[in-house]
Amino acid sequence: METINIAILGLGTVGQGVAIMLLKYEEFLERQLGCKIVLKRILEKDWQKELDFDKGDIPLSDNWQDVLTDPDIQIVIETMGGIEPAKTFIREALQSGKNVVTANKDLLALHGQELFGIAEEAGTDLYFEASVGGAIPILCALRQNLISDPIREVMGIVNGTTNYILSRMTDQGDDFSSVLADAQKLGFAEANPASDVEGLDAGRKAAILSTLAFQSQVTLDDVYIEGITGITREDILFADQMDLCIKLVALCRETDGKIEVRVHPALLPKAHPLSSVKEAYNAVFVKADRLGEVMLYGRGAGRFPTASAILGDVAEIVRNIRFGSCGSLTRVYQREKAILPIEDVETRFFLRLLLTDRPGVLATVARILGRYQVSLDTVNQIDLIGGNAELIFVTHLVREGDLRKALEEIRGLEITKEVITVLRVEGVA
Ligand code: HSE
Repeated sequence: METINIAILGLGTVGQGVAIMLLKYEEFLERQLGCKIVLKRILEKDWQKELDFDKGDIPLSDNWQDVLTDPDIQIVIETMGGIEPAKTFIREALQSGKNVVTANKDLLALHGQELFGIAEEAGTDLYFEASVGGAIPILCALRQNLISDPIREVMGIVNGTTNYILSRMTDQGDDFSSVLADAQKLGFAEANPASDVEGLDAGRKAAILSTLAFQSQVTLDDVYIEGITGITREDILFADQMDLCIKLVALCRETDGKIEVRVHPALLPKAHPLSSVKEAYNAVFVKADRLGEVMLYGRGAGRFPTASAILGDVAEIVRNIRFGSCGSLTRVYQREKAILPIEDVETRFFLRLLLTDRPGVLATVARILGRYQVSLDTVNQIDLIGGNAELIFVTHLVREGDLRKALEEIRGLEITKEVITVLRVEGVA
């Protein structure tokens, strides 16, 4: 029986997950794929590392050349993370005729197209399903299954850490920092959890999703990003009273040939399918003209969900190797569609303003909003002690640049104590 040899680069949480699954499901994979998959080498710089599996006599090396120059290795799995040396290793592997599977969203969101170009030239495969949504096969769906119908919108909950934090703040009334500490203990937060809570991790995934959904190059620099550090328990409670919940969304939309790509906390109607996605789960909601709406849901982080996505890619490459079709699915996307600046994006907004409570205050604020074409859907007043009132507005669809100008003017009013919260509302029919 044919044998395909594999190397793993980096034995972190995910790398070990791949090794464990490869060793445990050896026979199962062999039956599924019709050939033997052998873990031939492991690259790991920390020789002392305590492993969660018995690696037997598989050679462990800290020298990349040992993998690169081994002519038997046909697939390299990169689970080191970070930009360098991962980028160099992937480039050299592709150029030497090896196929690569990576979960490295940081690298792909910045240098994906360069690496896909190298793979295309070399006729090798570069697969990356695990970079977005863990076990959820969303990239395969965008690359293949949903290809027949132009995609209009992809809205995802693609960061498990922030979804866990917001779920706990909503359902159990916990505060931000204690929940973040729990997310770190549970192992789905990034090494630097600022990447999660400030929206960067979801931003990288939004760049990858947009590139595939709209078949035009989108990089991390194109993504407008706001994190969840400013979200308070009060925001959550007021949203709840209006049948809305707060989620960190990655939103990718094509309108009139331009791409909107942004990551920020958003209020979603509780009836929206993404509102039911709790804890560290991820989901991606896709809209297209003829297929309508599709939602994929599952575990977006963690050892085995991520490892299973990697092994799905390995299975595809194994088929490509066997049928001589490596490199056939690699696509290098050029920048074909412009990115819509955030000022030109149209959204509904949820605003909380703290104002002096006296006659004419609401009229003054409403007049300024009206002057900038900001039309209001609902207004609620909460009387507070101390002569102030909190006004909560939800707008109709407005151009973001117009709202920003109106708020700038409102902030300068003598009656304005504070613009407490400005959040976008999404998913309203
Ligand atoms: N830190 C990421 C998350 C891990 O919380 O979703 C998966 O990319």
